[in-house]
Amino acid sequence: MAVCDILKMGDPRLLRVAQPVTEFDSDALHLLITDLLDSMRAADGAGLAAPQIGVDLQVVIFGTDAANPRYPNAPLVPKTVLINPLITPLGEGEQTPSEDEDWEGCLSVPGLRGKVPRYSRIRYTGFDQYGDAIDRTVDGFHARVVQHECDHLWGKLYPMRMRDFSQFGFVDALQASN
Ligand code: NI
Repeated sequence: MAVCDILKMGDPRLLRVAQPVTEFDSDALHLLITDLLDSMRAADGAGLAAPQIGVDLQVVIFGTDAANPRYPNAPLVPKTVLINPLITPLGEGEQTPSEDEDWEGCLSVPGLRGKVPRYSRIRYTGFDQYGDAIDRTVDGFHARVVQHECDHLWGKLYPMRMRDFSQFGFVDALQASN
């Protein structure tokens, strides 16, 4: 096990488009997942992507078995390893997929929070570390977490998705004003 340093915004490795995983159930992949889990747990994160520990692969983990102290009121998202993901935004019937805005933080953007638009409802597909297929349709917080983590694989950090920078600030200052 290893708790890895988490790269911070400004590090160019966070801006790469990550490479797909080509070999599943390998020692190297299992070691990477263990490092991600240990690092996420140590930082009380809601999710972590391989590029955040400097690994250029399409691997994210998210979710918890118990409530997260950083997001005590958030609904539980099942603990998931997601590899080579594909996200499809879903609308109701023929309608364009709708968006919600809500607060997000990121272990690579420490101390800050911002209000970020995300698709309300998505289908996501991919594989776990054994190569078994994952196919889920989710909404709300679960959909937000998946979009945030997978964005790390496309070189996107949440401030790059924001539209209103008046809704961006330091956690302690935002809490003091509420
Ligand atoms: Ni993040």
